[in-house]
Amino acid sequence: MQTAQRISNFRESVIRMMTRLAIEHNAINLSQGFPDFDTPLALKEAAVKAIMEGNNQYSPTWGYTPLREKLAELYTSYLGWQLDPNQHVTVTCGVTEAMNSAMLAVLNPGDEIIIVEPAHENYIPSAIFAGATPVAVPIEAPDYRLDPERLAAAVTPRTRALVLNTPHNPSGRVFDAEELTGVADVVTSNDLVLITDEIYDHILYDGRQHVFPGALESLRDRTITVSGLSKTYAITGWRLGYVVAPTQLSAAVRPVHDFLTVCAPTPLQVAAVAALDFPQDYYDSMLADYHQRRDMTMDILRKVGFTAPAPEGAYYVLADYTDVPIPQAAWDSMRFAVWMVEEMGIAVVPGTVFYSVPGYGDRSVRFAFPKRFDTLRAAGEHLQRML
Ligand SMILES: Cc1ncc(COP(=O)(O)O)c(C=O)c1O
Repeated sequence: MQTAQRISNFRESVIRMMTRLAIEHNAINLSQGFPDFDTPLALKEAAVKAIMEGNNQYSPTWGYTPLREKLAELYTSYLGWQLDPNQHVTVTCGVTEAMNSAMLAVLNPGDEIIIVEPAHENYIPSAIFAGATPVAVPIEAPDYRLDPERLAAAVTPRTRALVLNTPHNPSGRVFDAEELTGVADVVTSNDLVLITDEIYDHILYDGRQHVFPGALESLRDRTITVSGLSKTYAITGWRLGYVVAPTQLSAAVRPVHDFLTVCAPTPLQVAAVAALDFPQDYYDSMLADYHQRRDMTMDILRKVGFTAPAPEGAYYVLADYTDVPIPQAAWDSMRFAVWMVEEMGIAVVPGTVFYSVPGYGDRSVRFAFPKRFDTLRAAGEHLQRML
Protein backbone atom coordinates (compact mmCIF):
# COMPACT_ATOMS: atom_id res chain seq x y z
CA MET A 1 0.00 0.00 0.00
CA GLN A 2 1.44 3.35 -1.03
CA THR A 3 1.14 6.38 1.21
CA ALA A 4 1.83 10.02 0.38
CA GLN A 5 5.34 11.17 -0.34
CA ARG A 6 4.76 14.36 1.66
CA ILE A 7 4.55 12.48 4.95
CA SER A 8 7.42 10.10 4.29
CA ASN A 9 9.81 11.97 6.61
CA PHE A 10 7.26 12.55 9.35
CA ARG A 11 7.86 10.79 12.66
CA GLU A 12 5.90 10.72 15.87
CA SER A 13 6.10 14.12 17.56
CA VAL A 14 8.96 13.75 20.05
CA ILE A 15 7.12 15.99 22.50
CA ARG A 16 4.08 13.75 22.48
CA MET A 17 6.38 10.71 22.58
CA MET A 18 7.95 12.06 25.79
CA THR A 19 4.46 12.46 27.27
CA ARG A 20 3.77 8.83 26.35
CA LEU A 21 7.05 7.78 28.03
CA ALA A 22 6.15 9.88 31.08
CA ILE A 23 2.92 7.92 31.45
CA GLU A 24 4.69 4.58 30.88
CA HIS A 25 7.32 5.36 33.55
CA ASN A 26 4.99 7.17 35.89
CA ALA A 27 7.32 10.16 35.61
CA ILE A 28 6.69 13.85 36.27
CA ASN A 29 5.79 15.29 32.89
CA LEU A 30 7.71 18.49 32.21
CA SER A 31 7.83 17.75 28.49
CA GLN A 32 4.60 18.84 26.80
CA GLY A 33 3.49 22.43 27.37
CA PHE A 34 0.21 22.02 29.17
CA PRO A 35 -0.86 22.81 32.72
CA ASP A 36 -1.42 20.10 35.33
CA PHE A 37 -3.55 22.61 37.27
CA ASP A 38 -7.19 23.04 36.46
CA THR A 39 -8.97 25.40 34.10
CA PRO A 40 -10.65 28.40 35.82
CA LEU A 41 -13.99 27.28 37.29
CA ALA A 42 -15.85 30.14 35.58
CA LEU A 43 -14.75 28.77 32.21
CA LYS A 44 -15.75 25.19 32.97
CA GLU A 45 -19.15 26.46 34.08
CA ALA A 46 -19.48 28.60 30.96
CA ALA A 47 -18.73 25.55 28.77
CA VAL A 48 -21.29 23.36 30.57
CA LYS A 49 -23.86 26.15 30.33
CA ALA A 50 -23.16 26.60 26.63
CA ILE A 51 -23.78 22.90 26.02
CA MET A 52 -26.90 22.79 28.18
CA GLU A 53 -28.30 25.86 26.43
CA GLY A 54 -28.07 24.10 23.08
CA ASN A 55 -24.94 25.53 21.43
CA ASN A 56 -24.09 22.15 20.00
CA GLN A 57 -24.17 22.52 16.24
CA TYR A 58 -21.72 24.06 13.77
CA SER A 59 -20.94 27.69 14.40
CA PRO A 60 -20.45 30.05 11.45
CA THR A 61 -17.27 28.74 9.84
CA TRP A 62 -15.34 31.97 10.65
CA GLY A 63 -16.27 31.58 14.32
CA TYR A 64 -19.08 32.24 16.80
CA THR A 65 -20.08 35.84 16.11
CA PRO A 66 -19.79 37.31 19.66
CA LEU A 67 -16.33 35.75 19.96
CA ARG A 68 -15.20 37.28 16.66
CA GLU A 69 -16.68 40.62 17.72
CA LYS A 70 -14.75 40.50 20.98
CA LEU A 71 -11.51 39.56 19.22
CA ALA A 72 -12.02 42.30 16.62
CA GLU A 73 -12.46 44.84 19.41
CA LEU A 74 -9.31 43.65 21.22
CA TYR A 75 -7.12 43.49 18.12
CA THR A 76 -8.33 46.88 16.88
CA SER A 77 -6.67 48.27 19.98
CA TYR A 78 -3.62 45.94 19.78
CA LEU A 79 -2.88 46.44 16.08
CA GLY A 80 -4.03 50.04 15.65
CA TRP A 81 -6.34 49.54 12.66
CA GLN A 82 -10.11 49.04 12.52
CA LEU A 83 -10.87 45.31 12.37
CA ASP A 84 -14.15 44.05 10.99
CA PRO A 85 -15.21 40.79 12.71
CA ASN A 86 -16.89 39.73 9.47
CA GLN A 87 -13.72 40.06 7.46
CA HIS A 88 -10.57 40.06 9.53
CA VAL A 89 -11.00 37.46 12.30
CA THR A 90 -11.23 33.68 11.90
CA VAL A 91 -11.55 31.32 14.85
CA THR A 92 -9.64 28.07 14.33
CA CYS A 93 -9.03 24.72 16.05
CA GLY A 94 -6.04 25.98 17.99
CA VAL A 95 -2.93 27.77 16.79
CA THR A 96 -1.96 24.46 15.22
CA GLU A 97 -4.79 24.69 12.70
CA ALA A 98 -4.30 28.46 12.35
CA MET A 99 -0.66 27.97 11.28
CA ASN A 100 -1.66 25.23 8.84
CA SER A 101 -4.40 27.41 7.37
CA ALA A 102 -2.09 30.42 7.12
CA MET A 103 0.65 28.49 5.34
CA LEU A 104 -1.76 26.72 2.99
CA ALA A 105 -3.24 30.12 2.17
CA VAL A 106 -0.01 31.86 1.19
CA LEU A 107 2.46 29.21 0.04
CA ASN A 108 2.67 27.57 -3.36
CA PRO A 109 4.52 24.31 -3.97
CA GLY A 110 8.19 25.15 -4.38
CA ASP A 111 8.02 28.34 -2.30
CA GLU A 112 10.35 28.75 0.66
CA ILE A 113 9.36 29.82 4.14
CA ILE A 114 11.87 31.02 6.73
CA ILE A 115 11.51 29.49 10.16
CA VAL A 116 13.51 30.82 13.11
CA GLU A 117 14.94 27.87 15.05
CA PRO A 118 14.70 26.54 17.73
CA ALA A 119 11.08 26.27 16.63
CA HIS A 120 7.82 24.73 17.71
CA GLU A 121 7.64 21.23 16.23
CA ASN A 122 4.60 21.87 14.05
CA TYR A 123 5.91 24.56 11.70
CA ILE A 124 7.95 22.32 9.42
CA PRO A 125 5.11 19.81 8.88
CA SER A 126 2.75 22.73 8.16
CA ALA A 127 5.14 24.05 5.50
CA ILE A 128 5.45 20.57 4.02
CA PHE A 129 1.65 20.18 3.88
CA ALA A 130 1.68 23.32 1.72
CA GLY A 131 4.35 21.82 -0.53
CA ALA A 132 6.81 24.52 0.55
CA THR A 133 10.42 24.19 1.64
CA PRO A 134 11.18 25.24 5.21
CA VAL A 135 14.43 27.20 5.50
CA ALA A 136 15.82 27.33 9.03
CA VAL A 137 17.58 30.33 10.51
CA PRO A 138 19.06 29.37 13.87
CA ILE A 139 19.28 31.55 16.95
CA GLU A 140 21.65 30.28 19.58
CA ALA A 141 22.38 29.98 23.28
CA PRO A 142 23.15 31.73 25.48
CA ASP A 143 21.21 34.84 24.38
CA TYR A 144 19.12 33.52 21.47
CA ARG A 145 19.27 36.91 19.74
CA LEU A 146 17.65 37.27 16.35
CA ASP A 147 20.16 38.45 13.78
CA PRO A 148 18.43 40.25 10.86
CA GLU A 149 21.53 39.73 8.70
CA ARG A 150 21.17 35.98 9.06
CA LEU A 151 17.49 36.29 8.17
CA ALA A 152 18.31 38.40 5.13
CA ALA A 153 20.96 35.92 4.02
CA ALA A 154 18.37 33.12 4.03
CA VAL A 155 16.10 34.92 1.54
CA THR A 156 16.11 33.64 -2.05
CA PRO A 157 13.91 34.53 -5.02
CA ARG A 158 11.60 31.68 -3.91
CA THR A 159 11.11 32.95 -0.34
CA ARG A 160 7.48 33.85 0.24
CA ALA A 161 6.98 34.02 4.03
CA LEU A 162 8.63 34.12 7.43
CA VAL A 163 7.33 32.63 10.69
CA LEU A 164 8.01 34.47 13.93
CA ASN A 165 7.05 33.16 17.35
CA THR A 166 7.20 35.70 20.17
CA PRO A 167 7.23 35.19 23.16
CA HIS A 168 9.33 32.30 21.99
CA ASN A 169 9.05 28.61 22.69
CA PRO A 170 11.46 27.07 23.66
CA SER A 171 14.07 29.79 24.33
CA GLY A 172 11.84 32.04 26.44
CA ARG A 173 12.93 35.08 24.41
CA VAL A 174 10.64 38.06 23.90
CA PHE A 175 12.07 39.67 20.80
CA ASP A 176 12.77 43.35 21.40
CA ALA A 177 12.01 46.41 19.27
CA GLU A 178 15.40 46.31 17.54
CA GLU A 179 14.99 42.66 16.55
CA LEU A 180 11.41 43.25 15.35
CA THR A 181 12.51 46.23 13.27
CA GLY A 182 15.14 43.97 11.71
CA VAL A 183 12.45 41.38 10.90
CA ALA A 184 10.23 44.09 9.44
CA ASP A 185 13.04 45.27 7.16
CA VAL A 186 13.67 41.76 5.84
CA VAL A 187 9.94 41.13 5.33
CA THR A 188 9.16 44.40 3.58
CA SER A 189 12.29 44.63 1.46
CA ASN A 190 11.72 41.13 0.10
CA ASP A 191 7.93 41.38 -0.29
CA LEU A 192 7.29 38.54 2.20
CA VAL A 193 4.28 37.65 4.32
CA LEU A 194 4.94 37.52 8.06
CA ILE A 195 3.10 34.77 9.93
CA THR A 196 3.35 35.28 13.67
CA ASP A 197 2.65 32.84 16.49
CA GLU A 198 1.82 34.89 19.59
CA ILE A 199 0.23 32.16 21.69
CA TYR A 200 2.24 33.26 24.78
CA ASP A 201 1.37 36.97 24.39
CA HIS A 202 0.00 37.13 27.96
CA ILE A 203 2.91 35.30 29.62
CA LEU A 204 5.71 37.84 29.97
CA TYR A 205 8.08 38.32 32.89
CA ASP A 206 9.68 41.22 34.74
CA GLY A 207 7.25 43.83 33.45
CA ARG A 208 7.81 43.15 29.74
CA GLN A 209 5.07 44.22 27.32
CA HIS A 210 4.08 42.23 24.27
CA VAL A 211 4.84 43.97 20.98
CA PHE A 212 2.42 42.86 18.26
CA PRO A 213 4.51 42.66 15.09
CA GLY A 214 1.36 43.30 13.01
CA ALA A 215 1.06 46.69 14.72
CA LEU A 216 4.26 47.94 13.09
CA GLU A 217 3.24 50.35 10.34
CA SER A 218 5.37 48.65 7.68
CA LEU A 219 3.99 45.18 8.53
CA ARG A 220 0.28 45.95 8.79
CA ASP A 221 -0.64 44.88 5.27
CA ARG A 222 1.54 41.80 5.21
CA THR A 223 1.12 40.16 8.62
CA ILE A 224 -1.03 37.18 9.52
CA THR A 225 -1.33 37.40 13.29
CA VAL A 226 -1.95 34.01 14.89
CA SER A 227 -2.74 33.45 18.54
CA GLY A 228 -4.94 31.31 20.75
CA LEU A 229 -6.52 30.63 24.10
CA SER A 230 -4.80 27.34 25.04
CA LYS A 231 -2.10 28.81 27.24
CA THR A 232 -3.55 32.02 28.69
CA TYR A 233 -6.65 30.26 30.03
CA ALA A 234 -5.22 26.76 30.68
CA ILE A 235 -7.50 25.17 28.07
CA THR A 236 -5.09 23.37 25.74
CA GLY A 237 -7.69 20.64 25.16
CA TRP A 238 -10.38 23.03 23.98
CA ARG A 239 -8.55 23.64 20.70
CA LEU A 240 -9.25 27.34 20.27
CA GLY A 241 -7.04 29.65 18.25
CA TYR A 242 -7.55 32.42 15.74
CA VAL A 243 -6.15 34.25 12.76
CA VAL A 244 -6.29 38.03 12.49
CA ALA A 245 -5.27 39.43 9.12
CA PRO A 246 -5.89 42.31 6.71
CA THR A 247 -8.56 41.83 4.05
CA GLN A 248 -6.66 40.05 1.28
CA LEU A 249 -4.76 37.67 3.57
CA SER A 250 -7.83 36.94 5.70
CA ALA A 251 -9.84 36.15 2.57
CA ALA A 252 -7.16 33.63 1.60
CA VAL A 253 -7.06 31.94 5.03
CA ARG A 254 -10.82 31.64 5.50
CA PRO A 255 -11.67 29.06 2.83
CA VAL A 256 -8.70 26.92 3.90
CA HIS A 257 -9.99 26.92 7.47
CA ASP A 258 -13.52 26.18 6.25
CA PHE A 259 -12.49 23.13 4.26
CA LEU A 260 -10.02 21.89 6.89
CA THR A 261 -12.22 21.91 9.97
CA VAL A 262 -15.52 23.75 9.22
CA CYS A 263 -15.40 25.41 12.64
CA ALA A 264 -13.90 25.24 16.10
CA PRO A 265 -16.01 23.50 18.80
CA THR A 266 -19.11 25.68 19.17
CA PRO A 267 -19.88 25.43 22.92
CA LEU A 268 -16.25 26.12 23.73
CA GLN A 269 -16.25 29.19 21.49
CA VAL A 270 -19.31 30.40 23.40
CA ALA A 271 -17.48 29.85 26.69
CA ALA A 272 -14.37 31.56 25.35
CA VAL A 273 -16.27 34.87 25.28
CA ALA A 274 -16.37 34.60 29.08
CA ALA A 275 -12.57 34.10 29.11
CA LEU A 276 -11.97 37.25 27.08
CA ASP A 277 -14.19 39.14 29.53
CA PHE A 278 -12.10 38.13 32.57
CA PRO A 279 -11.10 41.10 34.74
CA GLN A 280 -7.49 42.31 34.93
CA ASP A 281 -7.16 40.45 38.26
CA TYR A 282 -7.19 37.13 36.40
CA TYR A 283 -4.17 38.12 34.29
CA ASP A 284 -2.33 39.65 37.25
CA SER A 285 -2.69 36.56 39.38
CA MET A 286 -1.90 34.17 36.50
CA LEU A 287 1.27 36.13 35.85
CA ALA A 288 2.26 36.28 39.53
CA ASP A 289 1.95 32.47 39.64
CA TYR A 290 4.00 32.08 36.45
CA HIS A 291 6.73 34.33 37.86
CA GLN A 292 6.88 32.10 40.89
CA ARG A 293 6.97 28.95 38.74
CA ARG A 294 9.70 30.37 36.55
CA ASP A 295 11.82 31.38 39.52
CA MET A 296 11.30 28.01 41.23
CA THR A 297 12.24 26.15 38.05
CA MET A 298 15.38 28.25 37.51
CA ASP A 299 16.38 27.68 41.13
CA ILE A 300 15.89 23.93 40.94
CA LEU A 301 17.84 23.68 37.68
CA ARG A 302 20.73 25.91 38.74
CA LYS A 303 21.17 23.93 41.97
CA VAL A 304 21.95 20.78 39.98
CA GLY A 305 24.23 22.49 37.48
CA PHE A 306 21.95 23.18 34.50
CA THR A 307 22.66 26.51 32.82
CA ALA A 308 20.03 28.59 31.05
CA PRO A 309 18.99 32.19 30.58
CA ALA A 310 15.89 33.01 32.64
CA PRO A 311 12.87 33.06 30.31
CA GLU A 312 11.59 36.53 29.38
CA GLY A 313 8.24 35.05 28.36
CA ALA A 314 6.32 31.80 27.69
CA TYR A 315 6.72 28.86 30.10
CA TYR A 316 9.78 26.85 29.15
CA VAL A 317 13.45 26.70 30.09
CA LEU A 318 15.86 25.37 27.48
CA ALA A 319 18.65 24.26 29.80
CA ASP A 320 22.20 23.13 29.03
CA TYR A 321 23.19 20.04 31.01
CA THR A 322 26.95 20.04 30.22
CA ASP A 323 27.85 21.07 33.78
CA VAL A 324 25.53 18.66 35.58
CA PRO A 325 27.94 16.50 37.60
CA ILE A 326 26.98 13.11 36.17
CA PRO A 327 28.58 10.93 33.47
CA GLN A 328 25.35 11.10 31.45
CA ALA A 329 26.06 14.81 30.87
CA ALA A 330 28.29 13.65 28.01
CA TRP A 331 25.36 12.08 26.16
CA ASP A 332 23.43 13.57 23.26
CA SER A 333 20.16 15.25 24.15
CA MET A 334 17.83 12.44 22.98
CA ARG A 335 19.70 9.81 25.00
CA PHE A 336 19.89 12.18 27.97
CA ALA A 337 16.13 12.89 27.84
CA VAL A 338 15.25 9.18 27.65
CA TRP A 339 17.56 8.51 30.61
CA MET A 340 15.91 11.38 32.51
CA VAL A 341 12.44 9.90 32.10
CA GLU A 342 13.51 6.32 32.82
CA GLU A 343 15.96 6.91 35.68
CA MET A 344 15.18 10.34 37.15
CA GLY A 345 11.40 10.08 36.67
CA ILE A 346 11.19 13.43 34.84
CA ALA A 347 10.10 13.81 31.24
CA VAL A 348 11.73 16.65 29.28
CA VAL A 349 12.24 17.34 25.57
CA PRO A 350 15.63 16.92 23.84
CA GLY A 351 16.93 20.25 22.52
CA THR A 352 17.65 18.81 19.07
CA VAL A 353 13.90 18.42 18.46
CA PHE A 354 13.63 22.17 18.02
CA TYR A 355 16.28 22.46 15.32
CA SER A 356 16.39 20.94 11.86
CA VAL A 357 19.94 22.18 11.33
CA PRO A 358 22.36 19.46 12.45
CA GLY A 359 24.65 20.36 15.32
CA TYR A 360 22.23 22.72 17.06
CA GLY A 361 20.32 22.06 20.26
CA ASP A 362 22.44 19.23 21.52
CA ARG A 363 23.50 19.35 25.20
CA SER A 364 20.18 20.96 26.13
CA VAL A 365 16.73 19.79 27.18
CA ARG A 366 13.51 21.75 27.55
CA PHE A 367 11.63 21.89 30.83
CA ALA A 368 7.97 23.03 30.70
CA PHE A 369 6.85 24.66 33.93
CA PRO A 370 3.07 25.29 33.64
CA LYS A 371 2.71 22.97 36.61
CA ARG A 372 1.43 22.97 40.19
CA PHE A 373 3.98 24.16 42.75
CA ASP A 374 3.82 20.65 44.26
CA THR A 375 4.76 19.15 40.92
CA LEU A 376 7.73 21.50 40.57
CA ARG A 377 8.86 20.79 44.14
CA ALA A 378 8.68 17.04 43.46
CA ALA A 379 10.67 17.54 40.25
CA GLY A 380 13.30 19.40 42.31
CA GLU A 381 13.54 16.43 44.68
CA HIS A 382 13.97 14.00 41.81
CA LEU A 383 16.71 16.15 40.29
CA GLN A 384 18.61 16.23 43.59
CA ARG A 385 19.42 12.58 42.89
CA MET A 386 21.84 13.80 40.24
CA LEU A 387 24.09 15.30 42.92
C1 LIG B 1 4.69 28.19 19.98
C2 LIG B 1 3.49 27.32 20.00
N1 LIG B 1 2.60 27.41 19.01
C3 LIG B 1 1.50 26.63 18.99
C4 LIG B 1 1.26 25.71 19.97
C5 LIG B 1 0.01 24.87 19.89
O1 LIG B 1 -1.08 25.69 20.13
P1 LIG B 1 -2.60 25.20 20.13
O2 LIG B 1 -2.85 24.43 21.39
O3 LIG B 1 -3.39 26.46 20.11
O4 LIG B 1 -2.78 24.38 18.91
C6 LIG B 1 2.14 25.57 21.03
C7 LIG B 1 1.91 24.56 22.08
O5 LIG B 1 2.77 24.22 22.85
C8 LIG B 1 3.29 26.39 21.04
O6 LIG B 1 4.20 26.32 22.02
